[in-house]
Amino acid sequence: MPQAARVSRPRIVVLISGSGSNLQALIDSDDLGGDLVLVVSDRPAVAGLDRAGRAGIETATVAPDPEDSRAAWEMALVDTVAQANPDLVVLAGFMKILSGSFVNRWPTVNVHPSLLPAFPGAHAPEEAIAWGVKVSGVTVHFVDEQVDNGPIILQESVVVESGDTADTLHARIQTVEHRLLPQAIALICAGRTQRDGRHVRTQ
Ligand code: GRF
Repeated sequence: MPQAARVSRPRIVVLISGSGSNLQALIDSDDLGGDLVLVVSDRPAVAGLDRAGRAGIETATVAPDPEDSRAAWEMALVDTVAQANPDLVVLAGFMKILSGSFVNRWPTVNVHPSLLPAFPGAHAPEEAIAWGVKVSGVTVHFVDEQVDNGPIILQESVVVESGDTADTLHARIQTVEHRLLPQAIALICAGRTQRDGRHVRTQ
């Protein structure tokens, strides 16, 4: 996002699939430095849509049609997002994989419940417990064409306690997510991130 000439606040679209606790953390942040202009869910009637509605943010649902192709779904998603004219897209518990044509169109950020590149995919806390790691954590990263792969903006570790289950570990990870995601978005909105290949410098 070129910041030098920016006069207005960045417009942020958030994509969700479920409870939206990370969306809530963005809503509750006092110093995001950008405006949440639209929340889009790929699943109807999820709690995250209610959170957005209560905060007065416009919402949309773009659910896949079982009769139609994945490409048609993504095209509908792109149309919906484009209408909000975003500067930044945030995946906050969005469980669908997006193609290059989406993630190369808008800077897109994801929050993931592990220290990537360990445990990419949809079951990170379960896999961390099964592997027996002593430390897991949170990664906030730019999204590229591969799953949970893009340049890392912020990471923070979470210690795995003996007796942790996937649920107890995930709950502690989420408390860190709720701090780290708004922090990363605020850095981007303030023009305080610089991408250089895989490396993201923050100032
Ligand atoms: C979070 O743990 C996030 O890391 C993962 O999905 C979960 C979404 O939670 N990608 P919520 O919908 O924000 O509560």
